[in-house]
Amino acid sequence: YPPELVRNFSIIAHVDHGKSTLADRLLELTGTIKKGHGQPQYLDKLQVERERGITVKAQTATMFYKHSVNGDNISDGKESCKFLLNLVDTPGHVDFSYEVSRSLAACQGVLLVVDAAQGVQAQTVANFYLAFESNLTIVPVINKIDQPTANPDLVKAQLKSMFDLDPSDVLLTSAKTGQGLESIIPAVIERIPPPSGSCNSPLRMLLLDSYYDEYKGVICHVAVVDGALRKGDKISTVATGQSYEVFDVGIMHPELKPTGILLTGQVGYVVSGMRSTKEARIGDTIYHTKTAVEPLPGFKPAKHMVFSGLYPADGSDFEALNNAIERLTCNDASVSIAKETSTALGLGFRCGFLGLLHMDVFHQRLEQEYGAHVISTVPTVPYIFEYSDGSKLEVQNPATLPSNPKQKVIACWEPTVLATIIIPSEYVGPVITLVSERRGQQLEHSFIDSQRVFMKYRMPLKEIVIDFYNELKSITSGYASFDYEDADYQQSDLVKLDILLNGQPVDAMATIVHKVKAYRVGRELVEKLKKAIDRQMFEISIQAAIGSKIISRETISALRKNVLAKCYGGDVSRKRKLLEKQKEGKKRMKRVGSVDIPQEAFHELLKVS
Ligand code: GTP
Repeated sequence: YPPELVRNFSIIAHVDHGKSTLADRLLELTGTIKKGHGQPQYLDKLQVERERGITVKAQTATMFYKHSVNGDNISDGKESCKFLLNLVDTPGHVDFSYEVSRSLAACQGVLLVVDAAQGVQAQTVANFYLAFESNLTIVPVINKIDQPTANPDLVKAQLKSMFDLDPSDVLLTSAKTGQGLESIIPAVIERIPPPSGSCNSPLRMLLLDSYYDEYKGVICHVAVVDGALRKGDKISTVATGQSYEVFDVGIMHPELKPTGILLTGQVGYVVSGMRSTKEARIGDTIYHTKTAVEPLPGFKPAKHMVFSGLYPADGSDFEALNNAIERLTCNDASVSIAKETSTALGLGFRCGFLGLLHMDVFHQRLEQEYGAHVISTVPTVPYIFEYSDGSKLEVQNPATLPSNPKQKVIACWEPTVLATIIIPSEYVGPVITLVSERRGQQLEHSFIDSQRVFMKYRMPLKEIVIDFYNELKSITSGYASFDYEDADYQQSDLVKLDILLNGQPVDAMATIVHKVKAYRVGRELVEKLKKAIDRQMFEISIQAAIGSKIISRETISALRKNVLAKCYGGDVSRKRKLLEKQKEGKKRMKRVGSVDIPQEAFHELLKVS
């Protein structure tokens, strides 16, 4: 396939506007998968994706389509040509916008899909700008026109006023009924330019993604920018310089299909002798060993916005958790992992995530795919503390911040984000209240049309990390859409809040909060813990403290109950059963000093912000 007959495109949209369904229909239409293959959302391969109905990892599929291009010198307008189309599915959730930019690097154009009833939403705006800034051709598609509340004309007007997209260029479809679908691929072929690489230059490939397959080893997804790759070639990566032999090369159709060759402009897979995905760095340039090439621009490295400690639920399971995390990070290179130790929880890991949903998905995959049971600590964002001697400390784990530092803290900084919120105008009041409680600063407020308002805020990242999106959804009856991009650090009044059980600080429960919120958060944490911790044989005091100052306190009174009390000397097997049961219960406890803390206590703390 010469590059003129190749088109690389992606589908971008707000969450739930129908990308994956549309992708399925296009795969069916081109005969790539059978109609009614029984598995909706073909490209969503992970179990968590199917369960939650979201796309997490971008997938690629190659399709073939016969089309005649009028006046085109390839076919002279006489007969139709077979085109090779690479469709890259992208995630829609804010946490995964990093995956979106990665997918776009392999494309020359996008289908911008908008729901005919919901219209332009926050991620439509974010995704549009990602594509626009990458100079990609944008083909607007209004989907779900079969819905009774569909209003394609209003959505066309929004696309015109917000993005200057011509209403006559907009395609109307229903991925559900099939209406309008036939117009999509011809538009992709006619409007989106072919890839522009040079067939005669030395090979340069962009490494889009990599994962580990039990049978084949490391599989790399690549986009060939210049030159060609053949089976048996020797290749190297710019990052490591190491050389590998290509054992297998081909396309995703949508399953791996060996072709023995990949040409300029194509997207496909490569299997070489790489032993771990760590050797396959996403965004790296691959070239023929011993040829000199200029590296491709690559990607900005993933930015970790949220950190949390992960500990085995049962202390002895550290090795099992270690293995599970290692295997999972082979397929999710966007998580950062470092070992850490907590006096309360023992050996564990400090993990950096792209966002809260990413963290959730990571936990869920650990449990579902690798059978690991974990306790996670309160998510935190990376803060910076500056001391009077001029030194600076980046804090990814509140426990590592000294509660009574030797040097005076002279300044603290916290990361912020630019948040975009789109809502029907009747919800403006409650949303402004919520955002100002969360320390947001309004930057923009405008009308998209007569009913919808677009608002832009600068907000501390910490304030959106815990439950912001859920609250926003609930106060707007689900109508709000929300997206954010990271912005600069801002100076802020921060304090470390320690939790003490019987006078001993529990490192895994320490948090960093804004001074104004410290009292409220301290009180809530202490109350939550009082409810979650069972009475024990002695009195337990629960305190929240800033430095040496106690700001909140609760007491759990002592219990004198003996589990065996009811079976005086009686039945041995019943006694054993009771003791076994007690042991079971203990397993799920963490002991701090002399206090047993149930796992649920850690979960409860996650909900306080
Ligand atoms: P993410 O992968 O999470 O970003 O979502 P998505 O944009 O891929 O959305 P998806 O394809 O999963 O569709 C969301 C929901 O809309 C599903 O329940 C689909 O069945 C439904 N849907 C998709 N297209 C249409 C359509 O044309 N009409 C109607 N009525 N429903 C549709």
